[in-house]
Amino acid sequence: MAKKKNTEAIVQRARPLGRQSAHEFQAFTETITMPIALSQKVARQSIENLNQVLADTFTLRDLYKKHHWQVGGPTFYQLHLLFDKHYEEQNDLVDAIAERIQSLGGVGLAMAPDIAETTIIPRAPRGREEVPVQISRLLHAHEIVLEEARTMARLAAKSGDDGTNDLLVSDIIRGNEKQVWFLSQHLVNVPLLKAD
Ligand SMILES: [Fe+2]
Repeated sequence: MAKKKNTEAIVQRARPLGRQSAHEFQAFTETITMPIALSQKVARQSIENLNQVLADTFTLRDLYKKHHWQVGGPTFYQLHLLFDKHYEEQNDLVDAIAERIQSLGGVGLAMAPDIAETTIIPRAPRGREEVPVQISRLLHAHEIVLEEARTMARLAAKSGDDGTNDLLVSDIIRGNEKQVWFLSQHLVNVPLLKAD
């Protein structure tokens, strides 16, 4: 009999312990001091700035997916593919920024309602827009990210946070500048069939 009870207890361990809850072990506003030879003041400044550029990068990423689905017209196929390529690249940036925030001892924004509350990129309508409007909207979003990223990069360099400066310059600034080049060339008014 005792042996049977023991078997039941062991089998119980296989039961998934779902629907558990507890308080957060790190609130969003709390910063953990990490052993990376940076003061908490410097880390906090970088975390705050990175969460802003994270929210804007999330938004820009999602703007690309919206346009990937909703694009129409003679350039549909090339833009459908280009928008998705840029979406994937922005998605990699989202991951790199969020992981940098965690490395600094902070908490990265993650969920859509929090991103919507934080981003400074203007909200796009739900419906479909013409290609020149889609591209203009994307270029404006890129410029917002580039402007803030340059300011944040200078601040990070000044305060000695070289890792954050490198992420902002090498990945965010250079990546966004390249995407702007690819996008902006679609708004250059050169003849399609007959030279002027
Ligand atoms: Fe797709």
